[in-house]
Amino acid sequence: MCSIEKILVSIVLINILQLETYLCTKNNSKIIMEDAQEKYKFLITAGYRPKIDNLAKYVVSLRGKKYKRFFGDNHGCGGSIISPKVILTAAHCVCRGDSRIELKPLRPSDLLVVAGTPRRLVVTEKTQALKVDKVICHAYYDPKTFHNDIALLLLIKNIYEDGVSAQRISLQTSSLPPHTKCTVLGWGQIFTKGPLPDLILHADIYIMPNEFCKERANDFFFGMMCANDENDFEKDSCVGDSGGPLICNGSVAGIVSFGYGCGAPDEAGFYTNVSSYRDWIRKNGLDKLRPVNYILLIVLQICITEN
Ligand SMILES: *[C@@H]1O[C@H](CO)[C@@H](O)[C@H](O)[C@H]1NC(C)=O
Ligand SMILES: *[C@@H]1O[C@H](CO)[C@@H](O)[C@H](O)[C@H]1NC(C)=O
Ligand SMILES: *[C@@H]1O[C@H](CO)[C@@H](O)[C@H](O)[C@H]1NC(C)=O
Repeated sequence: MCSIEKILVSIVLINILQLETYLCTKNNSKIIMEDAQEKYKFLITAGYRPKIDNLAKYVVSLRGKKYKRFFGDNHGCGGSIISPKVILTAAHCVCRGDSRIELKPLRPSDLLVVAGTPRRLVVTEKTQALKVDKVICHAYYDPKTFHNDIALLLLIKNIYEDGVSAQRISLQTSSLPPHTKCTVLGWGQIFTKGPLPDLILHADIYIMPNEFCKERANDFFFGMMCANDENDFEKDSCVGDSGGPLICNGSVAGIVSFGYGCGAPDEAGFYTNVSSYRDWIRKNGLDKLRPVNYILLIVLQICITEN
């Protein structure tokens, strides 16, 4: 769901959003709010904002190291906190190259992970900005087909988990039957080629049977799944939501991967099936952190035996 052209269009639209924000602070908010209400039916797209948001704490915003004009104007993708030091995201967010062979991870020093806040543009007291130590791309990610669209970011420091504003989410382990209700959330475009929101948006969608997905994708591989709402096709993830979670039954089941437009009739959004990559995630992310503990154990043992 990423293309330079779309990103550029978003940046232009962000400027409009900034103007809106400016006007709001000037307290012309009445007019602007009415206008915003009109737009709500398109959000994330066709999304909503719950009164109490219990899911935003799992989600991070992936950005460039430096913003251009204001905080958050360089938001690129979403991601999920799966351990205090590991972010799960899409390969197309952080791995570059025209083909699988020349695939290169982005430089960790060019990336910033922002956790702890449902707001993209505002630094709150809960906002945590974290540097990246390592970008791990799936070795068989194919930029042409989005096969194996999964990547991990290992952070330099732990995310501080308070359980309210930032928290790790478990990986989906059981196989989910078609028509399971899930929630996708992110700061992606509120309609095709539209601006990105400041406050994170949710959409409730349903996992679709694989046959349905196959008919609607050029390539539908093992490890992909699709989701939509057949009664409201406008509910969909869009550019800027990439890498973020599809949450089912409290666990991350999907990673926003690609689509054919956003919220188009009789279409669906495509997601990386997290269940299919559980071993890869363990091996490349969660387990990578353990050697430190082994070293600690060895040092401890030496200390104990020497005493
Ligand atoms: C903006 O206007 C509302 C009423 O329309 C008022 O309650 C609020 O205090 C105003 N805010 C500022 C910053 O002036
Ligand atoms: C949903 O989660 C609960 C507990 O977290 C679990 O017992 C149940 O089996 C899960 N349901 C599905 C369909 O995965
Ligand atoms: C996701 O992958 C798991 C494990 O490979 C599989 O059991 C499950 O059916 C897949 N889910 C979908 C919706 O295809």
